[in-house]
Amino acid sequence: MTQRAQTIIHHIGLLWTMAGAHADDTIARCGRDAMREVDAHTEAAIAIGEDGRILGLGSEREVLAMADEHTVLVDAQGGFLCPGLVDPHTHLVHGGSREQELPMRLAGAGYLDILRAGGGILSTVRETARRSEDDLLAQAAQSVRRMLSFGVTTLEAKTGYGMTQEVEQKQLQVALRLAGESPVGFVHTALPAHAVLPERLGDRDRFIEEIASMWPALYAQGAEFADAFVEEGVFSVDEGRYLLSRAQAAGLKVKLHADEMVAGGGAQLAAELGAVSADHLLAATDEGLAAMAKAGVVAVCLPGTSFYLQKTPARARHMLDEAGLAVAIASDYNPGSSPSENFGLTMSLALLTLRMSPEEVFMAATRNAACAIDRGDRAGVLAPGRSADLVLFGPREPAYILTHYGINHVAQVFIAGRRVA
Ligand code: NIG
Ligand code: FE
Repeated sequence: MTQRAQTIIHHIGLLWTMAGAHADDTIARCGRDAMREVDAHTEAAIAIGEDGRILGLGSEREVLAMADEHTVLVDAQGGFLCPGLVDPHTHLVHGGSREQELPMRLAGAGYLDILRAGGGILSTVRETARRSEDDLLAQAAQSVRRMLSFGVTTLEAKTGYGMTQEVEQKQLQVALRLAGESPVGFVHTALPAHAVLPERLGDRDRFIEEIASMWPALYAQGAEFADAFVEEGVFSVDEGRYLLSRAQAAGLKVKLHADEMVAGGGAQLAAELGAVSADHLLAATDEGLAAMAKAGVVAVCLPGTSFYLQKTPARARHMLDEAGLAVAIASDYNPGSSPSENFGLTMSLALLTLRMSPEEVFMAATRNAACAIDRGDRAGVLAPGRSADLVLFGPREPAYILTHYGINHVAQVFIAGRRVA
Protein backbone atom coordinates (compact mmCIF):
# COMPACT_ATOMS: atom_id res chain seq x y z
CA MET A 1 0.00 0.00 0.00
CA THR A 2 1.34 3.44 -0.80
CA GLN A 3 1.84 5.73 2.16
CA ARG A 4 -0.37 8.79 2.28
CA ALA A 5 1.20 12.18 1.58
CA GLN A 6 1.15 14.28 4.72
CA THR A 7 2.53 17.33 2.94
CA ILE A 8 2.90 18.24 -0.71
CA ILE A 9 4.95 21.23 -1.74
CA HIS A 10 3.66 22.20 -5.16
CA HIS A 11 4.01 25.05 -7.65
CA ILE A 12 7.81 24.72 -7.49
CA GLY A 13 9.22 26.76 -10.39
CA LEU A 14 12.51 24.84 -10.46
CA LEU A 15 13.62 21.78 -8.48
CA TRP A 16 17.19 20.45 -8.41
CA THR A 17 17.41 17.04 -6.73
CA MET A 18 21.21 16.56 -7.14
CA ALA A 19 20.54 12.86 -7.76
CA GLY A 20 21.97 11.48 -11.00
CA ALA A 21 19.56 9.20 -12.85
CA HIS A 22 21.94 6.24 -13.01
CA ALA A 23 24.73 6.96 -10.55
CA ASP A 24 24.87 5.80 -6.92
CA ASP A 25 23.41 8.89 -5.25
CA THR A 26 25.31 8.43 -1.98
CA ILE A 27 28.74 9.27 -3.40
CA ALA A 28 30.28 12.62 -4.35
CA ARG A 29 30.23 13.95 -7.91
CA CYS A 30 33.72 14.52 -9.31
CA GLY A 31 34.86 17.13 -11.81
CA ARG A 32 33.12 19.78 -13.84
CA ASP A 33 30.69 17.70 -15.91
CA ALA A 34 29.33 15.52 -13.11
CA MET A 35 29.07 18.48 -10.74
CA ARG A 36 26.79 20.24 -13.24
CA GLU A 37 24.29 17.34 -13.37
CA VAL A 38 21.76 18.77 -10.97
CA ASP A 39 18.73 16.76 -12.21
CA ALA A 40 16.39 19.68 -12.92
CA HIS A 41 12.57 19.56 -12.89
CA THR A 42 10.31 22.47 -13.78
CA GLU A 43 6.70 22.96 -12.64
CA ALA A 44 7.42 20.39 -9.98
CA ALA A 45 6.10 19.15 -6.66
CA ILE A 46 7.37 16.96 -3.83
CA ALA A 47 5.34 14.69 -1.57
CA ILE A 48 6.37 13.97 2.02
CA GLY A 49 5.09 11.08 4.14
CA GLU A 50 4.14 10.97 7.82
CA ASP A 51 7.63 9.67 8.64
CA GLY A 52 9.24 12.84 7.24
CA ARG A 53 10.60 11.01 4.22
CA ILE A 54 10.14 11.87 0.58
CA LEU A 55 7.39 9.82 -1.06
CA GLY A 56 7.72 11.14 -4.56
CA LEU A 57 8.86 14.12 -6.59
CA GLY A 58 8.67 15.35 -10.13
CA SER A 59 5.87 16.64 -12.29
CA GLU A 60 3.27 18.57 -10.36
CA ARG A 61 0.37 16.64 -11.91
CA GLU A 62 1.73 13.22 -10.91
CA VAL A 63 2.72 14.24 -7.40
CA LEU A 64 -0.60 15.96 -6.67
CA ALA A 65 -2.29 12.64 -7.45
CA MET A 66 -0.75 11.37 -4.17
CA ALA A 67 -2.84 13.84 -2.12
CA ASP A 68 -5.88 12.87 -0.08
CA GLU A 69 -8.27 15.04 1.91
CA HIS A 70 -5.81 15.29 4.87
CA THR A 71 -2.75 16.32 2.86
CA VAL A 72 -1.37 19.77 3.68
CA LEU A 73 -0.56 21.68 0.50
CA VAL A 74 2.29 24.18 0.58
CA ASP A 75 2.40 26.63 -2.32
CA ALA A 76 6.04 27.25 -3.35
CA GLN A 77 4.87 30.24 -5.41
CA GLY A 78 7.13 29.37 -8.32
CA GLY A 79 10.35 29.43 -6.28
CA PHE A 80 13.49 27.27 -6.41
CA LEU A 81 13.72 24.15 -4.25
CA CYS A 82 16.84 22.10 -3.51
CA PRO A 83 18.19 19.75 -0.81
CA GLY A 84 18.85 21.29 2.61
CA LEU A 85 22.27 22.94 2.51
CA VAL A 86 25.18 21.24 4.24
CA ASP A 87 27.99 23.21 5.90
CA PRO A 88 30.83 20.68 6.30
CA HIS A 89 33.38 22.85 8.14
CA THR A 90 32.59 25.16 11.06
CA HIS A 91 34.29 26.13 14.30
CA LEU A 92 30.83 26.62 15.77
CA VAL A 93 31.58 26.53 19.50
CA HIS A 94 33.89 29.26 20.76
CA GLY A 95 34.00 32.10 23.25
CA GLY A 96 34.10 35.77 22.23
CA SER A 97 35.04 37.47 18.98
CA ARG A 98 38.22 38.84 17.39
CA GLU A 99 37.38 42.05 15.54
CA GLN A 100 40.47 43.66 17.12
CA GLU A 101 42.64 41.62 14.72
CA LEU A 102 41.38 43.25 11.55
CA PRO A 103 43.22 46.59 11.99
CA MET A 104 46.42 44.64 12.67
CA ARG A 105 45.97 42.65 9.50
CA LEU A 106 45.10 45.78 7.50
CA ALA A 107 48.32 47.32 8.82
CA GLY A 108 50.25 44.40 7.38
CA ALA A 109 50.39 41.68 10.05
CA GLY A 110 49.81 38.17 8.69
CA TYR A 111 47.29 35.71 10.16
CA LEU A 112 50.14 33.43 11.25
CA ASP A 113 52.15 36.41 12.66
CA ILE A 114 49.26 37.21 14.99
CA LEU A 115 49.08 33.56 16.03
CA ARG A 116 52.85 33.41 16.69
CA ALA A 117 52.53 36.50 18.90
CA GLY A 118 50.01 34.66 21.10
CA GLY A 119 46.86 36.12 19.50
CA GLY A 120 44.60 34.61 16.87
CA ILE A 121 43.46 31.08 17.69
CA LEU A 122 45.24 31.35 21.06
CA SER A 123 43.15 34.34 22.15
CA THR A 124 39.99 32.36 21.41
CA VAL A 125 41.50 29.46 23.40
CA ARG A 126 41.73 31.78 26.42
CA GLU A 127 38.17 33.07 25.95
CA THR A 128 36.78 29.57 25.51
CA ALA A 129 38.50 28.30 28.65
CA ARG A 130 37.05 31.19 30.66
CA ARG A 131 33.39 30.67 29.66
CA SER A 132 30.92 28.28 31.18
CA GLU A 133 29.31 25.56 29.14
CA ASP A 134 26.01 27.48 29.25
CA ASP A 135 27.61 30.70 27.95
CA LEU A 136 29.25 28.83 25.09
CA LEU A 137 25.95 27.12 24.35
CA ALA A 138 24.03 30.40 24.18
CA GLN A 139 26.53 31.90 21.73
CA ALA A 140 26.63 28.79 19.52
CA ALA A 141 22.84 28.36 19.59
CA GLN A 142 22.43 31.83 18.12
CA SER A 143 24.85 30.90 15.36
CA VAL A 144 22.92 27.71 14.58
CA ARG A 145 19.67 29.70 14.31
CA ARG A 146 21.36 32.06 11.86
CA MET A 147 22.78 29.20 9.80
CA LEU A 148 19.37 27.53 9.68
CA SER A 149 17.79 30.76 8.47
CA PHE A 150 20.15 30.59 5.46
CA GLY A 151 19.04 27.04 4.67
CA VAL A 152 21.67 24.94 6.45
CA THR A 153 20.07 21.69 7.63
CA THR A 154 23.25 19.70 8.39
CA LEU A 155 26.51 21.07 9.76
CA GLU A 156 29.88 19.94 11.04
CA ALA A 157 31.10 21.42 14.34
CA LYS A 158 34.73 21.30 15.43
CA THR A 159 36.36 21.66 18.80
CA GLY A 160 39.84 23.21 18.65
CA TYR A 161 39.85 26.06 21.11
CA GLY A 162 40.54 23.81 24.08
CA MET A 163 43.84 22.08 23.58
CA THR A 164 43.55 20.67 27.06
CA GLN A 165 41.39 17.60 27.28
CA GLU A 166 39.07 19.31 29.75
CA VAL A 167 38.27 22.29 27.52
CA GLU A 168 38.13 20.20 24.33
CA GLN A 169 35.56 18.00 26.06
CA LYS A 170 33.64 21.06 27.24
CA GLN A 171 33.42 22.34 23.66
CA LEU A 172 32.35 18.93 22.38
CA GLN A 173 29.75 18.70 25.13
CA VAL A 174 28.26 22.03 24.03
CA ALA A 175 27.99 20.80 20.44
CA LEU A 176 26.43 17.52 21.58
CA ARG A 177 23.87 19.38 23.69
CA LEU A 178 23.02 21.65 20.75
CA ALA A 179 22.64 18.63 18.48
CA GLY A 180 20.14 17.24 20.96
CA GLU A 181 18.12 20.47 21.08
CA SER A 182 18.20 21.58 17.45
CA PRO A 183 16.48 20.05 14.42
CA VAL A 184 19.71 20.61 12.45
CA GLY A 185 21.83 17.49 11.81
CA PHE A 186 25.27 17.62 13.47
CA VAL A 187 28.57 15.91 12.74
CA HIS A 188 31.17 16.25 15.50
CA THR A 189 34.87 16.74 14.85
CA ALA A 190 37.65 16.89 17.43
CA LEU A 191 40.42 19.36 16.60
CA PRO A 192 42.75 19.44 19.62
CA ALA A 193 45.62 19.75 17.12
CA HIS A 194 44.73 23.33 16.16
CA ALA A 195 47.80 25.23 17.45
CA VAL A 196 50.77 24.72 19.73
CA LEU A 197 50.37 26.53 23.03
CA PRO A 198 53.30 29.00 23.32
CA GLU A 199 54.20 27.74 26.79
CA ARG A 200 54.56 24.25 25.30
CA LEU A 201 56.96 25.15 22.46
CA GLY A 202 59.83 23.98 24.67
CA ASP A 203 58.35 20.51 25.19
CA ARG A 204 56.61 20.21 21.87
CA ASP A 205 56.95 16.41 21.66
CA ARG A 206 55.27 15.93 25.02
CA PHE A 207 52.50 18.33 23.98
CA ILE A 208 51.91 16.34 20.78
CA GLU A 209 51.85 13.13 22.78
CA GLU A 210 49.24 14.65 25.10
CA ILE A 211 47.05 15.56 22.13
CA ALA A 212 47.43 12.07 20.67
CA SER A 213 46.31 10.59 23.96
CA MET A 214 43.07 12.68 23.93
CA TRP A 215 41.54 10.94 20.91
CA PRO A 216 40.01 7.92 22.69
CA ALA A 217 38.15 10.11 25.21
CA LEU A 218 36.89 12.49 22.49
CA TYR A 219 35.77 9.52 20.39
CA ALA A 220 34.01 7.91 23.34
CA GLN A 221 32.23 11.19 24.06
CA GLY A 222 30.82 11.41 20.53
CA ALA A 223 33.38 12.82 18.09
CA GLU A 224 33.26 11.09 14.72
CA PHE A 225 36.14 12.88 12.97
CA ALA A 226 39.62 14.02 13.94
CA ASP A 227 41.15 17.12 12.34
CA ALA A 228 44.57 18.82 12.50
CA PHE A 229 45.95 22.16 11.27
CA VAL A 230 48.86 20.99 9.12
CA GLU A 231 50.61 24.21 8.15
CA GLU A 232 54.04 25.81 8.20
CA GLY A 233 54.56 27.12 11.73
CA VAL A 234 51.74 25.02 13.21
CA PHE A 235 51.94 21.20 12.83
CA SER A 236 54.34 19.68 10.29
CA VAL A 237 53.31 16.92 7.89
CA ASP A 238 55.16 14.36 10.05
CA GLU A 239 53.41 15.60 13.19
CA GLY A 240 50.07 15.57 11.36
CA ARG A 241 50.69 12.03 10.16
CA TYR A 242 51.50 10.88 13.68
CA LEU A 243 48.54 12.66 15.31
CA LEU A 244 45.97 11.58 12.75
CA SER A 245 47.20 7.98 12.57
CA ARG A 246 46.73 7.80 16.31
CA ALA A 247 43.22 9.22 15.83
CA GLN A 248 42.44 6.54 13.24
CA ALA A 249 43.69 3.88 15.65
CA ALA A 250 41.22 5.29 18.19
CA GLY A 251 38.35 4.84 15.70
CA LEU A 252 38.04 8.36 14.29
CA LYS A 253 37.72 9.25 10.62
CA VAL A 254 40.08 11.95 9.44
CA LYS A 255 39.95 15.39 7.83
CA LEU A 256 42.65 18.06 7.59
CA HIS A 257 43.21 21.80 7.47
CA ALA A 258 45.75 21.47 4.67
CA ASP A 259 48.00 23.76 2.61
CA GLU A 260 46.12 26.91 3.64
CA MET A 261 49.00 29.38 3.41
CA VAL A 262 52.04 27.38 2.29
CA ALA A 263 52.27 24.26 0.10
CA GLY A 264 53.63 21.84 2.65
CA GLY A 265 52.40 18.44 1.55
CA GLY A 266 49.09 18.55 3.44
CA ALA A 267 47.07 17.47 0.40
CA GLN A 268 49.38 14.47 -0.13
CA LEU A 269 49.06 13.57 3.55
CA ALA A 270 45.27 13.61 3.24
CA ALA A 271 45.53 11.19 0.31
CA GLU A 272 47.99 8.96 2.14
CA LEU A 273 45.78 8.72 5.23
CA GLY A 274 42.59 8.15 3.23
CA ALA A 275 41.07 11.30 4.73
CA VAL A 276 37.40 11.94 4.01
CA SER A 277 38.20 15.58 3.18
CA ALA A 278 41.04 18.09 3.01
CA ASP A 279 40.02 21.68 3.54
CA HIS A 280 41.38 25.18 2.61
CA LEU A 281 43.99 24.10 -0.02
CA LEU A 282 44.80 27.66 -1.17
CA ALA A 283 48.41 26.67 -1.73
CA ALA A 284 47.95 23.01 -2.68
CA THR A 285 50.08 21.89 -5.63
CA ASP A 286 48.92 20.11 -8.78
CA GLU A 287 50.55 16.91 -7.45
CA GLY A 288 48.82 17.21 -4.09
CA LEU A 289 45.43 17.75 -5.72
CA ALA A 290 45.98 14.86 -8.13
CA ALA A 291 46.84 12.58 -5.20
CA MET A 292 43.63 13.63 -3.45
CA ALA A 293 41.56 12.90 -6.56
CA LYS A 294 43.12 9.44 -6.87
CA ALA A 295 42.43 8.66 -3.22
CA GLY A 296 38.84 9.96 -3.35
CA VAL A 297 39.40 12.78 -0.84
CA VAL A 298 36.78 15.56 -1.09
CA ALA A 299 38.33 19.04 -1.58
CA VAL A 300 36.55 21.53 0.68
CA CYS A 301 36.99 25.14 -0.45
CA LEU A 302 36.34 27.95 2.04
CA PRO A 303 35.75 31.08 -0.04
CA GLY A 304 34.63 33.16 2.95
CA THR A 305 38.02 32.61 4.57
CA SER A 306 40.12 33.62 1.57
CA PHE A 307 37.86 36.67 1.21
CA TYR A 308 38.15 37.71 4.87
CA LEU A 309 41.91 37.03 5.02
CA GLN A 310 42.31 38.78 1.66
CA LYS A 311 44.16 35.87 0.08
CA THR A 312 44.09 34.46 -3.43
CA PRO A 313 41.28 31.87 -3.32
CA ALA A 314 41.68 28.13 -3.80
CA ARG A 315 42.09 26.96 -7.40
CA ALA A 316 38.63 25.51 -7.76
CA ARG A 317 38.71 25.68 -11.56
CA HIS A 318 41.86 23.58 -11.63
CA MET A 319 40.29 21.16 -9.15
CA LEU A 320 37.18 20.81 -11.33
CA ASP A 321 38.55 21.09 -14.87
CA GLU A 322 41.96 19.43 -14.55
CA ALA A 323 42.14 17.34 -11.39
CA GLY A 324 38.59 15.96 -11.58
CA LEU A 325 38.10 16.40 -7.84
CA ALA A 326 34.89 16.28 -5.88
CA VAL A 327 34.66 19.88 -4.63
CA ALA A 328 32.56 20.98 -1.65
CA ILE A 329 32.25 24.40 -0.05
CA ALA A 330 31.93 25.40 3.61
CA SER A 331 31.65 28.55 5.69
CA ASP A 332 34.59 27.79 8.04
CA TYR A 333 32.56 29.90 10.47
CA ASN A 334 35.00 31.00 13.22
CA PRO A 335 35.90 34.26 14.99
CA GLY A 336 39.28 34.82 13.31
CA SER A 337 39.22 33.97 9.63
CA SER A 338 35.53 33.71 8.72
CA PRO A 339 33.22 35.46 11.16
CA SER A 340 29.91 35.02 9.34
CA GLU A 341 27.12 32.44 9.51
CA ASN A 342 25.71 33.63 6.18
CA PHE A 343 25.96 30.48 4.06
CA GLY A 344 24.32 32.28 1.15
CA LEU A 345 27.31 34.60 1.12
CA THR A 346 29.66 31.59 1.14
CA MET A 347 27.84 30.32 -1.94
CA SER A 348 27.96 33.70 -3.69
CA LEU A 349 31.69 33.94 -2.97
CA ALA A 350 32.12 30.47 -4.50
CA LEU A 351 30.49 31.79 -7.66
CA LEU A 352 32.39 35.08 -7.70
CA THR A 353 35.84 34.21 -6.36
CA LEU A 354 36.15 30.46 -7.01
CA ARG A 355 34.54 31.01 -10.43
CA MET A 356 32.21 28.06 -10.06
CA SER A 357 28.96 27.81 -12.05
CA PRO A 358 25.63 27.96 -10.17
CA GLU A 359 25.19 24.21 -10.71
CA GLU A 360 28.65 23.51 -9.30
CA VAL A 361 28.02 25.81 -6.33
CA PHE A 362 24.78 24.06 -5.37
CA MET A 363 26.34 20.60 -5.85
CA ALA A 364 29.28 21.72 -3.68
CA ALA A 365 26.88 22.97 -0.97
CA THR A 366 24.60 19.90 -0.92
CA ARG A 367 25.60 16.44 -2.11
CA ASN A 368 29.39 16.93 -2.13
CA ALA A 369 29.28 18.78 1.19
CA ALA A 370 27.39 15.84 2.69
CA CYS A 371 30.06 13.48 1.35
CA ALA A 372 32.77 15.66 2.91
CA ILE A 373 31.35 14.67 6.32
CA ASP A 374 30.41 11.11 5.34
CA ARG A 375 26.68 11.82 5.20
CA GLY A 376 26.24 11.05 1.49
CA ASP A 377 23.58 8.47 2.35
CA ARG A 378 21.53 10.89 4.46
CA ALA A 379 21.86 14.46 3.23
CA GLY A 380 22.42 16.54 0.12
CA VAL A 381 20.15 14.68 -2.31
CA LEU A 382 16.37 14.59 -2.80
CA ALA A 383 15.01 11.16 -3.69
CA PRO A 384 12.16 8.91 -2.58
CA GLY A 385 12.91 7.34 0.80
CA ARG A 386 15.31 10.09 1.89
CA SER A 387 14.64 12.51 4.74
CA ALA A 388 12.73 15.56 3.49
CA ASP A 389 15.41 18.16 4.32
CA LEU A 390 14.72 20.96 1.86
CA VAL A 391 15.22 24.64 1.20
CA LEU A 392 12.75 26.72 -0.72
CA PHE A 393 14.05 29.99 -2.13
CA GLY A 394 11.68 32.78 -3.15
CA PRO A 395 13.23 33.45 -6.58
CA ARG A 396 13.17 30.74 -9.25
CA GLU A 397 16.64 31.21 -10.72
CA PRO A 398 19.73 29.87 -8.89
CA ALA A 399 21.94 32.33 -10.80
CA TYR A 400 19.81 35.21 -9.54
CA ILE A 401 19.91 33.87 -5.96
CA LEU A 402 23.73 33.74 -6.04
CA THR A 403 24.41 36.99 -7.89
CA HIS A 404 21.92 39.11 -5.91
CA TYR A 405 24.34 38.53 -3.08
CA GLY A 406 24.40 39.26 0.64
CA ILE A 407 20.61 38.90 0.76
CA ASN A 408 18.78 36.00 2.38
CA HIS A 409 16.56 34.58 -0.38
CA VAL A 410 15.41 31.58 1.72
CA ALA A 411 11.63 31.42 2.05
CA GLN A 412 11.16 28.17 3.99
CA VAL A 413 13.32 25.39 5.41
CA PHE A 414 12.10 21.85 6.14
CA ILE A 415 13.90 19.18 8.13
CA ALA A 416 12.45 15.66 8.10
CA GLY A 417 9.32 17.15 6.51
CA ARG A 418 8.73 19.70 9.27
CA ARG A 419 8.92 23.42 8.62
CA VAL A 420 11.69 24.77 10.85
CA ALA A 421 12.35 28.24 9.42
O1 NIG B 1 39.98 27.16 9.45
N1 NIG B 1 43.19 27.67 9.86
C1 NIG B 1 42.97 27.33 11.00
N2 NIG B 1 41.85 27.38 11.69
C2 NIG B 1 40.70 28.16 11.40
C3 NIG B 1 40.78 29.52 11.97
C4 NIG B 1 40.51 29.50 13.39
C5 NIG B 1 40.68 30.86 14.00
O2 NIG B 1 41.33 31.76 13.46
O3 NIG B 1 40.15 30.97 15.10
C6 NIG B 1 40.39 28.19 9.94
O4 NIG B 1 40.52 29.22 9.27
FE1 FE C 1 38.73 25.84 9.80
